[in-house]
Amino acid sequence: MRAIIQDRYGSPDNLRLREVERPAVGDDEVLVRVRAASVHPDVWHVISGRPFVLRLMGSGLRRPKYPIPGTDLAGVVEAVGTGVTRFQPGDEVFGESMRGFSWRNGGAFAEYAAVPEEGLALKPGNVTFEQAAAVPTAGYIILLNLPRHRLRPGLRVLVNGAGGGVGALAVQLTKAHGAEVTGVDHTRKLDLVRALPADHVIDYTTDDFTRGDQRYDLIVDIPGNHPFSACRRVLSADGVYVLIGHDHYGQVGRRWLGSLPRFAGLGVRSRFDRHLRAGAARLGKREAMAILREHLEAGQLTPVIDRTYPLGEAGAAIAYLASGEPVGRVLLTV
Ligand SMILES: NC(=O)c1ccc[n+]([C@@H]2O[C@H](COP(=O)([O-])OP(=O)(O)OC[C@H]3O[C@@H](n4cnc5c(N)ncnc54)[C@H](OP(=O)(O)O)[C@@H]3O)[C@@H](O)[C@H]2O)c1
Repeated sequence: MRAIIQDRYGSPDNLRLREVERPAVGDDEVLVRVRAASVHPDVWHVISGRPFVLRLMGSGLRRPKYPIPGTDLAGVVEAVGTGVTRFQPGDEVFGESMRGFSWRNGGAFAEYAAVPEEGLALKPGNVTFEQAAAVPTAGYIILLNLPRHRLRPGLRVLVNGAGGGVGALAVQLTKAHGAEVTGVDHTRKLDLVRALPADHVIDYTTDDFTRGDQRYDLIVDIPGNHPFSACRRVLSADGVYVLIGHDHYGQVGRRWLGSLPRFAGLGVRSRFDRHLRAGAARLGKREAMAILREHLEAGQLTPVIDRTYPLGEAGAAIAYLASGEPVGRVLLTV
């Protein structure tokens, strides 16, 4: 099969399209003929090998242990392992190709990928392969962090970074529960944010939401560009703050540890500050994929695609993502 191969950390220019063996399928795995795979910031992290700590978190110390990048895919089931019960050849599926939690290449940038059954769901018929492939990892991150037990009609939610991959899903998921949502992002993304649809938008190039008069019951902060103390000022008495974090392709965060020290600091502070105790969800991948599928099928999640690239141009697709230009998601079609 054709696959993108990463044999060292560094520039996406080093990626090559090669002929390799199809992956073997384990008992609990599904062999998927990939039709689309998503290009997202965590793919960039593993290609660049930065921050260095991630190399200790599964991706390989000197060079990538697993050579084929990509984690999120959509496609058609080609074959199933002996223990697989939920899928059969011909099913259209979408999901995340990595087992459990790790920070490594997941093998999605290829014609075929072996995917654990728990990471897959049937693709709803009302979304394209590209839209479905844009959802799994970003959707899982937001479902794990969103205090869904708090969501209710009228809840005042602010999503900082609402035009990005995770932020757009945060807007759509909270709107699905009837929240009143304010989306913050760059001028050129505000049309997208309005169309999600967010109820209100704030342009971060001209306005600072932490200095406004409005109060919020939930702040979902993707870029993390304000200190928590500033965000706290605009939380309601029971309001909670959730940080997703973003290293902006190595521009912020530390070379060795990235944003981890910031998360550790907030973790310690959460013992004393109720605004930091949103209550993380305990959610397995299978359950998360089922929730995401339901929202896609109901038309409550509609990923917006900026651009697609053929598989062989994976390096150019990653460079485009890291340029900060995309308005919507970047996908590979296979
Ligand atoms: N998307 C995925 O599938 C995925 C998968 C795995 C992990 N993650 C992780 O989740 C995090 C977020 O990823 P993402 O895909 O949502 O990133 P993203 O698409 O780059 O979104 C971040 C958004 O924040 C905006 N932003 C930048 N500076 C801002 C500021 N000062 N105020 C308000 N908004 C600002 C960005 O706009 P600009 O264009 O102006 O920069 C962009 O729209 C990352 O840590 C990533 O590693 C994402």
